[in-house]
Amino acid sequence: MNPERGKLGICVIGSGRAGMIHARNFARGLPGARLVALADPHAPTLQEAQRELEVETGYASYRDALSDPRVHAVVVVTPTSLHRQIVLDAASAGKHVLCEKPMAMDVRECDEMIAACDAAKVKLQIGFMRRYDDSFTAARDRVAAGEIGEVVLVKSLSHGPSVPQEWMFDLRKSNGPLAEVSSHDIDAARWFVGAEIDEVYAIGGNFRCPQAAQKYPDFYDNVAMVCRFENGKQGFIDGAMSVGYGYDSRMEILGTSGVMFVGRREQDFVVTCSTARGIVQPFVKSWRTLFIDAYEAEDRDFVDCILRNRPPRVCGIDGRMAVAVVNAGNRSIAERTPVRVEKKAVEKKAVERKPR
Ligand SMILES: NC(=O)c1ccc[n+]([C@@H]2O[C@H](COP(=O)([O-])OP(=O)(O)OC[C@H]3O[C@@H](n4cnc5c(N)ncnc54)[C@H](O)[C@@H]3O)[C@@H](O)[C@H]2O)c1
Repeated sequence: MNPERGKLGICVIGSGRAGMIHARNFARGLPGARLVALADPHAPTLQEAQRELEVETGYASYRDALSDPRVHAVVVVTPTSLHRQIVLDAASAGKHVLCEKPMAMDVRECDEMIAACDAAKVKLQIGFMRRYDDSFTAARDRVAAGEIGEVVLVKSLSHGPSVPQEWMFDLRKSNGPLAEVSSHDIDAARWFVGAEIDEVYAIGGNFRCPQAAQKYPDFYDNVAMVCRFENGKQGFIDGAMSVGYGYDSRMEILGTSGVMFVGRREQDFVVTCSTARGIVQPFVKSWRTLFIDAYEAEDRDFVDCILRNRPPRVCGIDGRMAVAVVNAGNRSIAERTPVRVEKKAVEKKAVERKPR
């Protein structure tokens, strides 16, 4: 790598909702990096993103971005089913990768992506931004310091407000809400327990998206999943899409000598009391606002791990293990039975292990 003007050149691949969060961070200027290009085949989306961010170079094909020598690293923020091919191509072009969650569609794809990045000696970071959120990291540190004794049960929920994009209704393209929404909870649960999930039992149903029911009969917008960890600890994951009331992301960690609650519901700390409406405090509206600082910290850390040549804090194995749990959960929903999680190919464990 030979960064121009001493800065790492970044291309964001995919200029949709999450892509623009990363692109705005890099366009604002993070230490050691600059946004040199965007890539998106949807011309109006690309042009609008280029205009907003004042980025001259826009590629309709990400492959052209990968042959741009000014691009040293890419952020992959396309629909999930495209992650594998883009990451393989990026690795073979020698570009470092920050790949949004879910890492891929199944564990075989994840294994290929990890192997390709290892062989090319490029970094592979996965977009679990909760690991960069101040509240989640503080809670994890306190749990690890023993404030609630030994962890017994982690309950984690994510409820998304918006109606899913069309591609998310198709489980073959998205792996459904377990992947799109609950991946974060799966990763956070592994991180807090310090062990892998061994077995899951999940139930799903479509309660709020009748428009998808006929074309996508297996789509579920609500999921409840019980998890058994390999060390016997317990997990419960509650995931929902299209809830409307706001973005809800919270965790409760029950230990042998206490309990910890993480996550806030309030949009801000203004409470209005009126005779007409009673007590009103707006709910957090979007993941874009709740985790805005975490996304920026994640992007900074990606640049830092490349410039210092150190491993990413959240790596391919973390992405792979979450995908393995998603796959097991979807099988459990379809087959109405508990399912063991596929862990075979994992040689090194990525969760930060502490005897909790
Ligand atoms: N970390 C998080 O909290 C978070 C939040 C939202 C989405 N995501 C993930 O980010 C990814 C994208 O989700 P989204 O909500 O931004 O989707 P989106 O539909 O809003 O955006 C996807 C964009 O990718 C573009 N695209 C499609 N094919 C492409 C290709 N071959 N090359 C380049 N661009 C291409 C589309 O035109 C679109 O603009 C998904 O994997 C999703 O799970 C992560």
